[in-house]
Amino acid sequence: MHLFSSTILAALSKHTGLAASALKLENPRDAALGDLAFPCFLLAKERKQAPPAVAAELAAKLAGELEGITVTATGPYLNFRIARPLLAREVLADVERRGARYGGGDDGSGKTVVIDYSSPNIAKPMHVGHIRSTILGASLVRIFRHLGYRVVGINHIGDWGAQFGGLVVALRRWKAQVDLERDPVMGLLDLYQRSKEALKSDEQFQREAVAAYQELESGREGEVRELWRWVTEVSLRGFNATYKRLGIAHEHVRGESWYEPLLAPTLERVKAAGVTEISEGALVVMLGAVDKGLKETPCLLQQSNGTTLYATRDLAALFSRWEEFTFERCLYVVGGEQKLHFRQLKAVLQRMEQSWAARVEHVDFGMLLGPGRVKIASRKRGEVLVLDDLIDECVEEAAKVIEDKNPSLATKAQVAEQVGIGALVFNDLKRERIKDVIFDKREFLAFEGDTGPYLQYTHARLASILRKVHAANDPALGAAPDFAALENAGEILVRIAKFGDVVRAAAAKAEPSELSQYLLALARDVSTWLTQPENKVLGSQPAAGAARIALVRQAKCVLGLGLGLLGMAAPEEM
Ligand code: ARG
Repeated sequence: MHLFSSTILAALSKHTGLAASALKLENPRDAALGDLAFPCFLLAKERKQAPPAVAAELAAKLAGELEGITVTATGPYLNFRIARPLLAREVLADVERRGARYGGGDDGSGKTVVIDYSSPNIAKPMHVGHIRSTILGASLVRIFRHLGYRVVGINHIGDWGAQFGGLVVALRRWKAQVDLERDPVMGLLDLYQRSKEALKSDEQFQREAVAAYQELESGREGEVRELWRWVTEVSLRGFNATYKRLGIAHEHVRGESWYEPLLAPTLERVKAAGVTEISEGALVVMLGAVDKGLKETPCLLQQSNGTTLYATRDLAALFSRWEEFTFERCLYVVGGEQKLHFRQLKAVLQRMEQSWAARVEHVDFGMLLGPGRVKIASRKRGEVLVLDDLIDECVEEAAKVIEDKNPSLATKAQVAEQVGIGALVFNDLKRERIKDVIFDKREFLAFEGDTGPYLQYTHARLASILRKVHAANDPALGAAPDFAALENAGEILVRIAKFGDVVRAAAAKAEPSELSQYLLALARDVSTWLTQPENKVLGSQPAAGAARIALVRQAKCVLGLGLGLLGMAAPEEM
């Protein structure tokens, strides 16, 4: 709403003597009250007056001063309503002018946001937590980038730890028994599971595994390093195929192993800060002094046998990221089950009095569950759920729906991929991230209701109207628009005007659902408007038609942009 809010704030500033930057406009409680509201509470407090009196006084002063904007005092609020023709003209021209950059800006110019997302473990397919992290993180990357931030997406692959000792031994023993050619990721999973079993029961295996991990940690080149490197490559190839399908590319793939050379210096640094203690032979940082809730759970950084831990590697990663990127925010898109871990990391920084500790945020999220809230396991592969399988299932299902609805569509296969993925992605981003997500294909693949396909369908419908207008060479195409014809499109126009505010809220809260809910509301408003016979676009009186065409075009633009920020395609036809 920046077009009008700056004018309004300037006028308010003039009459209150306060700087415009100190004044804040809000959304009115009820859209019927106006398009923007100014709460008078703070001002009233300062002036030792009642808020409604301040509102009434300001309303009187502002009356007639703002062209095309009416001001009313309602209790403690000032409400502003923009005349529809003015709103339409300004807002639609703004979208037209800024196109793909609409709603974005240079808020983030000179600022860097680091986003740690997806971060699966090698030798295993991504589990459901990684799926959500991938989708949420990729959307946040796009949202921040739209606002002009430099975004550094990092894939913190789990490629280090004692379990790789076991895997190496399993490879030595059973490599020939599993199919590592056709489906290497599943072959590795098989070996990984066998090694877990053997570690429980086979002492010889245990000894070999410990020795292999020590060999790996020593940094020496040789058989163990080579096997480990090979496992990493095979796994990454599998992950990359999935990322490609989702249109995702991290700026950096830095597994835990990447921080290996930084582990010793990190431990030195923490020790030098004087915050470490030895507890039962292990190196720990006590955290109760900075976070009472962590009194009983110190952060363990080095085991008595000298090995480091997940937290050590994450701490090394944090210092490295801070030094390399001087981030404005460093987001960890990781499931809620790691809450304690990230709280501990932050607390360690606080104990070390690092002023930037507050810039580190755990962007946590709920679980992905099957219908009836049961754990989902993929049918084909036993206990683990493979992201690729999920995508395949959704795409197959989307293909059926398209076959049913639009059998003559030329680009069926491509659209099925876009819709299947779009449905999966939207399902994940639809509600606040902290809520659990139910994976119910039948529901989220429907073309009606609060679904991704519904949004894509609305976009395609707008595209189809524009195609028809052009095919018919409608006289409205060359006409000067009469924006009075959009008197009844106020809600759509206000919504379009607020797109940038929504993108900013999504970034501030690291919450893509701000955007997904917005898009649903916009699509619903537009669909309703289109069904009203008086809003006929094609073949109406030219000046009115021109205004409606502009609305259709810009609503389509905003829908498409929003879908793009969520990580979804916006098909022209489906
Ligand atoms: N690989 C970890 C896991 O699968 C997630 C890593 C998240 N990122 C981080 N910097 N700790 O649980």
